[in-house]
Amino acid sequence: MSEPLLFNLWDKDFQQDPYPTFARLHAEAPVLRLEQPDVWLLTRHADVARALRTPTVYSSAQGVAYRPGAGGSSMVAADDPAHKRLRSILSKEFTPGTVKSLGARIDEVVHQLVAQVAATRADGGFDFATLFAEQMPTRVIGAYLGIDPERWADYRRWSEVFNSAAWVEEPDLEVLNTAIGEAVQCFGTAMLERRQHPRDDLISRMVTAMDEQGTLTEIEIIDFCSLLMLAGNATTSSVLNHAVLLLLAHPEQLAELRRDSSLIPAAVEEVIRFESPVQGFARRLTEDVELHGHTMRSGETVVMMFGAANRDPAVFDNPGTFDIHRNTRQHIGFGSGPHVCLGSWLARSELRSALAELIPLMSDWSIDADAVRRRLDLPAFRDLISVPVRWTT
Ligand code: HEM
Repeated sequence: MSEPLLFNLWDKDFQQDPYPTFARLHAEAPVLRLEQPDVWLLTRHADVARALRTPTVYSSAQGVAYRPGAGGSSMVAADDPAHKRLRSILSKEFTPGTVKSLGARIDEVVHQLVAQVAATRADGGFDFATLFAEQMPTRVIGAYLGIDPERWADYRRWSEVFNSAAWVEEPDLEVLNTAIGEAVQCFGTAMLERRQHPRDDLISRMVTAMDEQGTLTEIEIIDFCSLLMLAGNATTSSVLNHAVLLLLAHPEQLAELRRDSSLIPAAVEEVIRFESPVQGFARRLTEDVELHGHTMRSGETVVMMFGAANRDPAVFDNPGTFDIHRNTRQHIGFGSGPHVCLGSWLARSELRSALAELIPLMSDWSIDADAVRRRLDLPAFRDLISVPVRWTT
């Protein structure tokens, strides 16, 4: 008889390899009540997608963290009409066209970091997670927003602290309050400066929207700067780290990508499907919902496991096989419905540009799989802390 299915989302063995549990949940318990945290868990693609597309029942108003209210006050933690208003003001900054115009800036960040990676050849190795994956998204978002380069390391640190506060079992409130104070001061100072001396950056454009059109408030600008920091950092880093691990583990697919770079966009989508950076976000029910024989009550928390939905065999054949040629159109790694990732085109552009430059180097890399370290304290995210690469030639 197999083990009972009771488990804790913070369990480190589960986070290390959640996929056998997801397979059992798909088959045996597509709706599961957990005790720690006290939530309902949805894992099937159809159920997760339906929940994401029914925001009047599955509400974001109390945030997407497992504890109600821990998700901050930005657009991700709002329902319509507040959500629609904020999203319509800011979405034009993230369209495929706007992102295309950022291409040169993204390429510049990638060139600089690839040069640093190439310079480690003489040392024999480097940690991809810290030297490249952590750095790239912070620099791209920092430059786009208009955060001065000397604050980029702080920007990354604040994103870590804010993320931990929302998701770890016992957040350190003192560290959180210090980071909030520093971040608010940094964003507030940037807003004051841009009012005097506007630049070609997002903070300047948001200040103009506030002063001239009255469409945003100071608090909303600060919330948005914080949201971008949270939403764009750990997620994009995770795809970079997993892309390196997966492509080195599948040398035939790496060789194909090297021969034909037009396959890179498909490879990016498959990495996001296979190792979804956002594993599971929460919603609160606004009414009772009957699903697969369970009654989930109004006010209760439902966690939608994107990572499990993207491994659902009802939608993806052999979901545990990494295959850059598979049809990934239905993956929901960027979410779905009204809160679908605002930065998906920015992320795709960053990831495609980075892989185009990294892939030619990767055939000279090997990874000591035992030395790879996974992040095991934030169950909502799947990321790696250390990806030690050795140069083989
Ligand atoms: C591969 C990288 C990324 C992944 C996998 C990802 C994933 C997601 C997911 C699953 C959501 C939906 C949240 C929900 O339904 O509650 C989301 C929302 C969001 N993402 Fe991303 N994201 C990525 C990169 C980025 C980047 C680079 C940015 C911007 C710099 C960004 C900005 C946002 C914002 C602002 C939202 C909230 C949208 C809303 O509430 O309407 N993301 N993302």
